Amino acid sequence: MPNIRIGDTQLHYEDVGRGPAIFLLHAFPLHSGMWQPQVELLSREHRVITMDYRGLGESRPAPEVATMELLAADAAELLARLGVVHATVAGLSMGGYVALALYRRSPQLFRGLVLADTKAGPDTAEGRDARHKFAQDAVVNGMGWVADQMIPKLLGPNAGPEVVRRVRALIGENGPAGVAAAQRGMAARPDSEPLLKCVRCPSLVIVGSEDTLTPPALSEAMAATLQTRVAVIPGAGHLANLENPKLFAGEIACFMAGLETPRRSQRPPPQ
Ligand code: MLT
Repeated sequence: MPNIRIGDTQLHYEDVGRGPAIFLLHAFPLHSGMWQPQVELLSREHRVITMDYRGLGESRPAPEVATMELLAADAAELLARLGVVHATVAGLSMGGYVALALYRRSPQLFRGLVLADTKAGPDTAEGRDARHKFAQDAVVNGMGWVADQMIPKLLGPNAGPEVVRRVRALIGENGPAGVAAAQRGMAARPDSEPLLKCVRCPSLVIVGSEDTLTPPALSEAMAATLQTRVAVIPGAGHLANLENPKLFAGEIACFMAGLETPRRSQRPPPQ
């Protein structure tokens, strides 16, 4: 996967396949490697772009606070540098927060919006305090502790040992400073409920039926505001894309098939 210099940061990204562009934004505390099954499946007929947020995966260095606005600015700059004029943007959980921040700053970029296992509302005061404590504890206790805390929340009761191993490995490839930055950034995110009412592009909501972090009821409410449908991934928890990769990718592919043909070529300009 290549790197690109954006401001004081080296961003790690992937850009594979040809066709209508889909930009996949990852969850916390993972990195873009969580999209590997969807990259493989969707890149047969689409151009698929992923990136690691500052401080996670191989994007360096970690800021003190990785706000959703900062990450969205990185995403917008990356897409511009890759010559992407329109894309379907799909975010899972924290990726959904980044997708909404990206919509807020660059709505013209969106051919479609996919919000998976996420929510638009802000944290409660207790939720924000818990994130700041988690950030401190992550730095003290390290990534094994982070994985122990998060895996029971991220995966549903049906997740097999292979998925559990994979998620632990993805988390273990991150560092505590990046995890802390992301938690502080999520704590500072604004209420995006009002923004949902202003979304003008086609949208889709996806949720695992066993997601307890952002349960199906939240997705139903988001979809009602967006006036769209919810695709439920049966038996899957919060990381629905890893628990049922084919069904998840199929939902995105069906959604994209229903969108208009892009107005311009989505290939990058010659360097
Ligand atoms: C995620 O999966 O990205 C996180 O659960 C999001 C969050 O902590 O709100």
